[in-house]
Amino acid sequence: MEKVAIVLAAGIGKRMHSKIPKVLHKICGKEMALYPITAAKSAGFKRIVAVISENMDTEIFKEEIIAYQKVPLGTGDAALKGLSAVKKLPDDTDVLILTGDNPLITAYDLNRLQQFHKESKNSATILTGDTENPNGLGRIVKEKGQFIKIVEEKDANNTEKNIKEINTGIYLFKKSALEKSLGHLSNNNAQNEYYLTETLSYLKNNNFKVGVLKMDRTLPIYGVNNRIELSIATDIIRKEILNALMIQGVTIINPSATSIDYCVEIGNDTVIYPGSVIQGDTRIGSGCEIGPNTRIIDAKIGNNTTVQFSVILKSKIGENCTIGPFSYIRRGNELKNNVKIGTFVELKKSLVNENSKIPHLSYIGDATIGKNVNIGAGTITCNFSGLQGKKKNPTFIGDNVFIGSHNTLVAPVIIRNNAYTAAGSLINKEVPEWALAIGRARQVNKENWVKRRKKGNA
Ligand code: UD1
Ligand code: CA
Repeated sequence: MEKVAIVLAAGIGKRMHSKIPKVLHKICGKEMALYPITAAKSAGFKRIVAVISENMDTEIFKEEIIAYQKVPLGTGDAALKGLSAVKKLPDDTDVLILTGDNPLITAYDLNRLQQFHKESKNSATILTGDTENPNGLGRIVKEKGQFIKIVEEKDANNTEKNIKEINTGIYLFKKSALEKSLGHLSNNNAQNEYYLTETLSYLKNNNFKVGVLKMDRTLPIYGVNNRIELSIATDIIRKEILNALMIQGVTIINPSATSIDYCVEIGNDTVIYPGSVIQGDTRIGSGCEIGPNTRIIDAKIGNNTTVQFSVILKSKIGENCTIGPFSYIRRGNELKNNVKIGTFVELKKSLVNENSKIPHLSYIGDATIGKNVNIGAGTITCNFSGLQGKKKNPTFIGDNVFIGSHNTLVAPVIIRNNAYTAAGSLINKEVPEWALAIGRARQVNKENWVKRRKKGNA
């Protein structure tokens, strides 16, 4: 039998007070609406319709069939727009409806729903849940155990408000039944919206078989409507990600103080210390030590590397490297194996080859650094070019070079293999191989100058 899932994701999400549409808020690096889509795919739905608003980035939903709902007239109208995108399906197609704001629903829940729906030969089945706090959710009204209707919080009377069984917003319909019932919706309710929930009572009253399946687990929230619920969902998904990593052999010292995005890969025997935030397309090898207090975004880090109290952005780091404490590795760096980047060092768009060290207080930008190089404390590459500084000038440092402490390397400049520079030098000319470059004023000692000054004739 054909089956299709429709994810309703065109609402504004007023309660988020955000410029970003609600379902595009990210949870552990992934847009909220992609969670129910992933769950539907794992539950065997290959064809997925995303109902979105016109101003949304379609790139996010590039694997899905897109249906637009220009004006958010309600969940019923959104479902209609979704269904119109897949009109040619047979009448007995299973149509799963999900909301883009429920990231906690899993393939397990959807598989239970499909099985129950099929066994009961229903025209429509509602997935419900129990909660101690039904605030804001649609209540399932029953009489003698039989489903009667779903009533929204804003339309509910006091007795109905006390009902603890709520509508998850997830339903499985036979296509013909959904189509028929959507044709009969009105917006005669507290919110003047076309409620999808009313299709269920319509079907019930017109002798279609409508069933209710309660989830066999309770969720702390059944939809993200505000930032508090966003944080609750994030906390649950974050823990799931950390648990999966721990099962694979990653030590996480304090999971409640660690955030790792959903697609991050980490090798076994790596230890993650508290305060680590690891995001985006990041891959970390095995045997590493990450943190405490470290943020890594879109970086590749080789085995046995240590990073503490540092920030690393979109860079490639080799094996056996030491980063930090307090290093800032900006975008576009490549560090080969056994490199040390130490305290208060900022690195930008630079290549640092094997066994080289930048241990203290440096800014190195647009530089290529050879093997076995030592950069003395306080060294700075002056890479600015012109008044605007938009174009940056390169610095080349060969193999086995020793840069003395507190050097100013005025780019573009080349320091050839095996050269040395003296401490405190300003280097603005090429340094040949094996040379010592001294670029500083000679020291002059004025004998007894202090004594003379005190007498007033210095
Ligand atoms: C809805 C249900 C409620 C249920 C709850 C579960 C209705 C009328 N109510 O309420 O019974 O308990 O979900 O979370 O269906 N959307 C559109 N277009 C619209 C309106 C909404 O695409 O015009 C999308 C939203 O982006 C969202 C989803 O539908 O992803 C649910 O909309 P929302 O406004 O959050 O509905 P609730 O008030 O939570
Ligand atoms: Ca909601």
